[in-house]
Amino acid sequence: MSGISSTVTLRDLDTTVDSTTDGLFGLTKYPAKFIPQLVNYPLDSWLANETAGNSPRVQYLVTDPFAGVGTVAISAHLRGLKSQLWDINPLMGHYNQAHAVVLSSQSPVIHLASALTDRLHDLRLYDLDGEYPVLPLDSKSIQYLGDWYHPLIFSLVSHLWHVYYNSPDKQKALLLAPLLRVTNKWSYNDLQRQKLCRSDRKTRYVNSWLRNLNWRQEFLKELIEYVNDAANRYADHKLRAPWQYDTSITVISPDRNATLPVGHGNVVITSPPYLQAQEYIRASKLPLLWLGHSLDEVRTRSKMEIPYCQSLPTQEIASPMFDHVRRFYDRDNNKRALAVLDSYFTNTVNALERASQSATDIYLIVGSANLYGTSVPLHIIFSEHFVYKLGWSHRFTLHDRIVAKTLFKTPVNPATNRIDQRMDTEQLVWLSR
Ligand SMILES: C[S@@+](CC[C@H](N)C(=O)[O-])C[C@H]1O[C@@H](n2cnc3c(N)ncnc32)[C@H](O)[C@@H]1O
Repeated sequence: MSGISSTVTLRDLDTTVDSTTDGLFGLTKYPAKFIPQLVNYPLDSWLANETAGNSPRVQYLVTDPFAGVGTVAISAHLRGLKSQLWDINPLMGHYNQAHAVVLSSQSPVIHLASALTDRLHDLRLYDLDGEYPVLPLDSKSIQYLGDWYHPLIFSLVSHLWHVYYNSPDKQKALLLAPLLRVTNKWSYNDLQRQKLCRSDRKTRYVNSWLRNLNWRQEFLKELIEYVNDAANRYADHKLRAPWQYDTSITVISPDRNATLPVGHGNVVITSPPYLQAQEYIRASKLPLLWLGHSLDEVRTRSKMEIPYCQSLPTQEIASPMFDHVRRFYDRDNNKRALAVLDSYFTNTVNALERASQSATDIYLIVGSANLYGTSVPLHIIFSEHFVYKLGWSHRFTLHDRIVAKTLFKTPVNPATNRIDQRMDTEQLVWLSR
């Protein structure tokens, strides 16, 4: 690799945000979500090169094939750029459609918020206990969801989802993130884990809340605060970026035979999954069920998640480092590690190649992930593949010392049953044609 390699604190390279939760960047939570600086810095560097300060920007399109909640779209929109998002997790689609609806609304966001909070104030909280409104969800989903809540909370949360489903589109869009926040917070699911999982800590937390006689009012007050907070974030974003939220959203089909889309963007900025560090669909299972996705769909999507998917696209990984890592697990006769490696790299490289078909530059944010106790240098393998197979140039790899990560630390990684050794660095790789 001929490019530069250096160690930096990436969050210090970007000065366009005050904090990692600035504006719309802080509206949603998602495992391994980008801090905005990780997108802003490469995007601004790319724009500075590309436009040399004078040509109009709006023609440019930024592609993120592993979009998560769509941090790239927010950063691109603030800079007057279009974006193209893909993800296997439909949550990405829900959030970004909601952004598009609220941001395109003619009426001030603050008016939408007061109409919505008036309706929430009108809920007759004490009449709701033990009653379950009719929701457009199938009975299996409702039964499944019920197991993740205290019955009193389940009744209240169901009524809030009833408000959601019966709201006009704009109010619905504004309610989405705040409602998912309380829905997650008051379930028995411990959000600090990588997948749907109960813990004594979370059960104690929820049960202690119910000892407060006013818990229903407090619950509603919290939701209303989140709605107002969301409205402020949207209003602030609209001021800074009054133009159209021009984002195309593709929720990847879980059908094994479906072909992936092709990217039309000028630049790809993305963060693929970090090997086995996370199960995104399982972590999003409760929100997806509340949003009307069936248990069967969630299960099928989980099976298509990288690296858990079985399908292997015909894809040569042109990387000496990949061969070296493969030989290492081969010598150990670790068939499971080999299967994870093959699935991870063939599927990820396939998506990256398709996403970057018309791009001149790729910025990849990857972590030094650990597989069965050994660190796999994802940044080297991806760089080698693009340089040796496709003739791209490696411009730089910046090694960032991660300041904060919300990954849960366990003595044993639940995916591998090994001592947990999560990465403590991540890399920003820049490749160009
Ligand atoms: C590291 S996260 C990206 C987070 C994102 N940068 C953000 O700021 O929210 C990786 C994403 O890859 C997605 N993913 C996993 N398998 C996938 C597949 N087969 N096709 C498309 N996306 C997939 C996951 O759902 C997850 O959202």
